[in-house]
Amino acid sequence: MRKISQLVKVMAAVLFSLQMSSTFAQVPVYQNPKEPINKRVEDLLSKMTLEEKIGQMTQADNTAVKAKPEDIANYFMGSILSGGDSKTGDNTTKAWAEQYNSFQNQALSTRLKIPIIYGLDAVHGNNDVYGTTIFPHNIALGCTRNPDLVEKAARVTAEEVLATGSNWAFAPCIAVTRDERWGRTYESFGETPELAEIFGAAQVRGLQGASLAGKTSVLACAKHYLGDGGTTGGKDQGNTVADEAAVRKLFLPGYIPAIKAGVGSVMASYSSINGIKMHGSKFWLTDVLKKELGFEGFVVSDWAGVDQLNPDYTAAVDSTINAGVDMVMLPNRYVDFFSSMKSLVSSNKISIARIDDAVRRILTIKFKMGLFEHPMADASLVASVGSAEHRAVARQCVRESLVLLKKTDGVLPLPKSGKKILVAGSHADDLGNQCGGWSIAWQGKSGNTTIGTTILAGMKKAAPGAKIDFSAAGDFADSKADYSVVVIGEKPYAEGKGDTTDLSISKDDVALIKKMKSYGAPVIVILISGRPLIIEKIQDNADAIFAAWLPGTEGDGVSDVLFGDFKPKGLLSVSWPKSMDQVPINIGDANYAPLFEFGYGLTSF
Ligand code: BGC
Ligand code: BGC
Repeated sequence: MRKISQLVKVMAAVLFSLQMSSTFAQVPVYQNPKEPINKRVEDLLSKMTLEEKIGQMTQADNTAVKAKPEDIANYFMGSILSGGDSKTGDNTTKAWAEQYNSFQNQALSTRLKIPIIYGLDAVHGNNDVYGTTIFPHNIALGCTRNPDLVEKAARVTAEEVLATGSNWAFAPCIAVTRDERWGRTYESFGETPELAEIFGAAQVRGLQGASLAGKTSVLACAKHYLGDGGTTGGKDQGNTVADEAAVRKLFLPGYIPAIKAGVGSVMASYSSINGIKMHGSKFWLTDVLKKELGFEGFVVSDWAGVDQLNPDYTAAVDSTINAGVDMVMLPNRYVDFFSSMKSLVSSNKISIARIDDAVRRILTIKFKMGLFEHPMADASLVASVGSAEHRAVARQCVRESLVLLKKTDGVLPLPKSGKKILVAGSHADDLGNQCGGWSIAWQGKSGNTTIGTTILAGMKKAAPGAKIDFSAAGDFADSKADYSVVVIGEKPYAEGKGDTTDLSISKDDVALIKKMKSYGAPVIVILISGRPLIIEKIQDNADAIFAAWLPGTEGDGVSDVLFGDFKPKGLLSVSWPKSMDQVPINIGDANYAPLFEFGYGLTSF
């Protein structure tokens, strides 16, 4: 009898524990990938505290949390980014992936285990990280007139981004650049809305792949909304003066196909329209972007862009969140943001409905990306970073974006053997110079910054049978030659620092070309720049001129055309002014008389 009752007790205990464990094993709806996304979002949202919701709207820079990674968990952060100078360890893909995983583990240690999304400026390849494939900047890609190629390039970028764990690229920049003095001209596909429409959508498709859930898909971010390329004087973060109809005609069109292509995020612009800062514009962010255009993704602010709205931080947060910004790129002030948000909720200045809308948008994207199922970096992608296959795509972008501005019969293409070629100029053998800004460093930098092929190295590879002598300064022991190639242009720069009122070729470069011409051989000039330069002073001494823009790591693309393996085919994505008096100059202007028109480019030798 006693034995039986003991047995019953044991069996009851076993049954109880089985029941308990099956209760534990029952995953909540939001963690079940078989449930529809909207149900998962609502389930998760219903479980979240206010603090957890504010956390999802928070994006801190890597440098802000590096020393205190547990704050990712303490503040329930939804996102981390790396700004242009926010590096990790030795800046290799592997170091980035390790850091990403450790940050992700912080997020996954929280009660609800909501993964972070990690953003970075992969604007021409995964350009911040050492050893990646760096593509030409957008202004060059616009000259290819080849959206399929640009989509393919963005696919490559997506893989190289994901290899670091990062899963969000702050690209495409679909600025329509209207003033060459703007230091971000090169981030734009060109001066017409059509180029932004065609190439913006192509880059979105490439980055996000067929679906955000794809194994090699990263979240894209159309930026900077709205009117960034139209500021007076080309001033970065400046003011665009235009009536609503003009804004809709020039700057809005690019966003429409990008949204149709499913772009999951949009970045607000630092700039203003008619004096109203975009970070505080409910009209453009909520009424137009979200309601009228039906954008269902989320809006992220630009780096400390919120701070510019009001010296009182809480008031600044109030206006930006109510204007429609869903996630704030702080990048440092997460403690302030947290307390400002809490006080704005308790004073009823920000409604829970607005917060729920923001968080719903962010979570929807995270679910669509499959982040809850696959939160960690995919180590299998590391091998593809900087691979020959990837570099071949970049090389094709380089050769298709070269614009032949001037030629003299019989000079091009260069023969691959039997002749002597002098090569000169500060940009002939300098990888950093040919990559430009947003390359390894925020502002870019000169020198041997990463792995790649300089233009000089590309020439030597293409023409092993030619005798190629190089001197940056153009000093040669024997200056008698058959050809001279001079590679000159702008030194790297990015936002802010790149604004200028003088786009003339430097005095030194004018003198160098003159010197090379005096040696007697025909001079072929290759311009490396983020925008048209005033070439008046070199034109007479140059027998041929190419605009090679900022080609990135694959200098071979230049020799592909120089030595005649491919015909030049790039067509200008911007009008090329004769002089600074003509700037700004755009197709459709009254009295339009540039040196080279929009769409110009010689396509044979
Ligand atoms: C730039 C953005 C960039 C962000 C993050 C800002 O200063 O305007 O284009 O995505 O920094 O680096
Ligand atoms: C960051 C950039 C950012 C810039 C804005 C830099 O320190 O690295 O990503 O765009 O600051 O001022």
